[in-house]
Amino acid sequence: MLTNPVTATAHPNIALIKYWGDLNPILHIPANGSISMNLAELFTQTTVSFEQSLEHDQFTLDGKHISGPSLERVSKLLSRVRHRAGIGLYARVESNNNFPTGVGMASSASGFAALTLAATQAAGLELDEKDLYCLARTGSGSACRSIPGGFVEWLAGERDEESYAYSIASSEHWDLVDCIAVVSQDEKLVSSSQGHALANTSLLQASRLADAPRRLDICREAIRQCDFSALAQVAEMDSNLMHAVMITSEPALFYWKPETVRIIQEVQSMHKVDLPVFYTVDAGPNVHVLCEPEVCKEVADTLSQLPGVSQVLQCHPGGPARIENSTI
Ligand code: PMV
Repeated sequence: MLTNPVTATAHPNIALIKYWGDLNPILHIPANGSISMNLAELFTQTTVSFEQSLEHDQFTLDGKHISGPSLERVSKLLSRVRHRAGIGLYARVESNNNFPTGVGMASSASGFAALTLAATQAAGLELDEKDLYCLARTGSGSACRSIPGGFVEWLAGERDEESYAYSIASSEHWDLVDCIAVVSQDEKLVSSSQGHALANTSLLQASRLADAPRRLDICREAIRQCDFSALAQVAEMDSNLMHAVMITSEPALFYWKPETVRIIQEVQSMHKVDLPVFYTVDAGPNVHVLCEPEVCKEVADTLSQLPGVSQVLQCHPGGPARIENSTI
């Protein structure tokens, strides 16, 4: 019975208020709460089966056999599932992204959300939602934001069971469009886990954290009221604060490329002509330019003509992670 494969799908998310730095790096309890929007057009699909014949966990990602630290991360989460379910079998994990992996487009968020859902179901575990979010969080912090649908807040908490996500509003609540200007598909040199560990070396992190509750309140309320200009202001500020911490860490972390700055400047010119648009950048050089749907064509066309922009992906708010098939 445990060998039946289960497939789950999850969307990556773009953080509007960013998570940067851990209170507990092992459990990924964050130093501050965060808010994000799931991205409907992008997804990870993951199939898990626990099999008697396996001598260790096996993981393929986009058709490639994975070993080393990435496999260890997956195995760690599978071991938590095995422990809870009281089973001793190793698992076969097959995962596919319909977007570039490891370039700051939150593939680890959708990846660990889909893995958690598929693995718990395949192991026959019946967890309540909060437990599921906490388990996903231990794989990759922001993965807990990819399990509920739409616009999601991750409450920081101080203990394992206090650090979980919930949906502020469904994907239908507000039709924002995220135009992702892709300037690089290279795998980033410093992973976000390595970056979180450096956050406290920046003199600016303490101020960023002290003001986080205020930014979270503004962002949550802006989403509830569909107040674009309030959201735009707080999201740009929050993204800039996180990157200020990154570049003042020791050693300094620069995720931006010259093209990143060029795109940000273009968005600033759009502000001057009152286009409803704002930028936010995660741990990578690609820029997420969010806008109201009536201007998304104009925004995407402008971005795609900028030097170094290889493509512009357009994403609407996405739903929750889901099981695709289960024969259990
Ligand atoms: O969940 P992680 O460890 O991949 O960290 C995510 C970090 C950022 O994408 C930069 C910010 C965020 O809140 O998603």
